[in-house]
Amino acid sequence: MTRLEYTINGEAVSVEVEPRTSLADMLRERLNLTGTHLGCEQGVCGACTIFLDGMPARSCITSALPCAGAEIKTIEAFDDDPLMGQLRGAFNANHALQCGFCTPGMLITARDIAIRLDDPTEERIRIELAGNLCRCTGYMGIVRAIQAVVATRSGSDLLDASKLALGPAGAGHEVAKVVPTTPRKPSGPPAPAMAALIPQPRSRPRPKPSVHQSFVVAFPRAKVWEQFGDVPSMVRCIPGASLISAEPNGTYQIKMRIKVGPITAEFAGIAEQQRDDAEMVGVISGSGRDSRSASLADGELTYRLVSEAEASTRIEIDVGYVLSGALGQFARGGIVNHFISAITRQFAENLGLLLEAKPGAEAPPQLTSELHVLGSLMHAIRAWLTALLRKNRP
Ligand code: FES
Ligand code: FES
Repeated sequence: MTRLEYTINGEAVSVEVEPRTSLADMLRERLNLTGTHLGCEQGVCGACTIFLDGMPARSCITSALPCAGAEIKTIEAFDDDPLMGQLRGAFNANHALQCGFCTPGMLITARDIAIRLDDPTEERIRIELAGNLCRCTGYMGIVRAIQAVVATRSGSDLLDASKLALGPAGAGHEVAKVVPTTPRKPSGPPAPAMAALIPQPRSRPRPKPSVHQSFVVAFPRAKVWEQFGDVPSMVRCIPGASLISAEPNGTYQIKMRIKVGPITAEFAGIAEQQRDDAEMVGVISGSGRDSRSASLADGELTYRLVSEAEASTRIEIDVGYVLSGALGQFARGGIVNHFISAITRQFAENLGLLLEAKPGAEAPPQLTSELHVLGSLMHAIRAWLTALLRKNRP
């Protein structure tokens, strides 16, 4: 037996252990700190996660002996911790636990995420949680709970208070640094409320083109190209879309509202455009989030202008998208493809109206601003629901 000294949950502790004892066994069996759970005991499930010198660590595969002198915090240390209190409330509110076995380790990791990362995307939170397994919840509630705390954390003094209580491993318990997950644009970040909603463009892999559309407008190529360069009026042409702001760094904050029967989604996001004047090819890419369903959409639209006879222009459009979260299921069964077809049709009509408008006309052209759900889309939804019900029938 060897006698070792630690600071555990703020108190100096002296404990005798066998040289091969793990931290988890020492905490549970010698000190009765059973909030640290043991699942796999081989470093996979994360149930035994504790803070070791301010860093989350798996206590089941960490030997107690070399940690002598370390500062250890188990879940029991956080009864009165304001940030952990917020996380516990958010876990309850978002149904982020069922049996609760994973919850102590999950909360330790969640607190680390909430302290260390500045505005993490849903994808980043999921990556950070990859070492904590839950066999009950399906993770959506856990991710939502962390997002809820991160969103309300801005502007409060919780973050500062929490930073003082912890420090990165090996750094003598210094104040932890908040690490931005994406580089800040030099012109400054969007307003905090918006920043919590909006994933940054290019934070995920580029969506592959999956829908091709083309239509012809009776206007010369140069005029159509000029019109496509006017982003605010192009956004007006997209049914359901509205421009929130044009940022000095060349990006745009955009909202897109979609309603089909009882389903309503409003994606808020950032878009940017790149144009090749010589080839008359442009690429618009963007990411958006629907906060109600916690769904994310990544999209990339490539448009190419081709001269047709008699001063008309054919517009070729390729759209790629990735839809994840609760609305991700609508990416199946071709439903999103029907959406894109419906949007493109109305976009083409609106574009024609805009091109026809006289420059400096007193009244702006009346464009269709709501997405009209066409019969083919309803047909696709019905077919998809029928197939789904058939598949799930016992
Ligand atoms: Fe430690 Fe599973 S019990 S990782
Ligand atoms: Fe049961 Fe996570 S709530 S394992």
